[in-house]
Amino acid sequence: MPFTRRTLLGVAVAAAMACVAATPAQAAKPLTIGFSQVGAESEWRTANTASIKAAARQANINLKFADAQQQQQNQVKAIRSFIAQRVDVIAFSPVVETGWETVLREAKNAKIPVILTDRAVKVSDPSLYVSFIGSDFVEEGRRAGRWLLDYAKKNGDKPLNIVELQGTVGSAPATDRKNGFAEVIAGNPKLKVLRSQTGDFTRAKGKEVMEAFLKSEGKNINVLYAHNDDMAIGAIQAIEEAGLKPGKDIVIVSIDGVRGAFEAMMKGKLNVTIECNPLLGPTLMQTAQAVAAGQPVAKRITVQEGVFPAEVAAKEFPNRKY
Ligand code: AHR
Repeated sequence: MPFTRRTLLGVAVAAAMACVAATPAQAAKPLTIGFSQVGAESEWRTANTASIKAAARQANINLKFADAQQQQQNQVKAIRSFIAQRVDVIAFSPVVETGWETVLREAKNAKIPVILTDRAVKVSDPSLYVSFIGSDFVEEGRRAGRWLLDYAKKNGDKPLNIVELQGTVGSAPATDRKNGFAEVIAGNPKLKVLRSQTGDFTRAKGKEVMEAFLKSEGKNINVLYAHNDDMAIGAIQAIEEAGLKPGKDIVIVSIDGVRGAFEAMMKGKLNVTIECNPLLGPTLMQTAQAVAAGQPVAKRITVQEGVFPAEVAAKEFPNRKY
């Protein structure tokens, strides 16, 4: 059929109608977020993943979720795949702090905003990410140290030998919790860290390393400082298998505040847990929506956290959400 003025007009009208019809559908198009999770190494991480998935569903956000199994190269691969898929926002919890410049620059060049959750990165150019949502890990370490100073004071300021189970080497929570704790206990010359080694934030490794500590230091150990509850729970098993009483023969201070820690406290096997809040999903979704809408967001968003000694465990347990 030859093109006449009438058919051209018809095409134009149809095109205009298509445009009008397309607008509401486009506006309703759900946001797509590519999220690279550290792994499934702890009870905390399970709660964090559940929070992110539930919040995405609730906000009608299309979530592309990738589990990195504690490997940085898997996270780099996932981020590159999100770039190739042209997601609207990339979010991730970096397993370690360094080594992100190249891939974050690739995301920036592709004009895809990046939000960090839970753990921080060390980059020379802070414009490589738009916001970081998560805990203050240095402060968590300080809180653990302050609890121990207080305990030492109440117990006649006797010398206390400490062993430390560190988190994943090179991760922000391991570095910061170590530094925060060391800064506070440096004020008391009677508190001495005998051994400090990584347990990679897992129960199995926490148990294995505690067994080695017990073998080399024996009954010299008075205190265990674990960078997370899972390692403390693994260590509790090792302490019991060595014929000692966790929470009594060895005072245990750990971080996270998961239900497993409360259960251990109620049995008298753990002395205190410093809270680290994993329920970051709703804030992540709100921040991603704001970023996608071109609204300004805070560069650093922190969360409210408490300290739970064994004395309050039974009362607090029913209120725990993770
Ligand atoms: O980054 C947060 C830490 O990672 C949590 O304390 C720990 O349990 C997790 O594996």
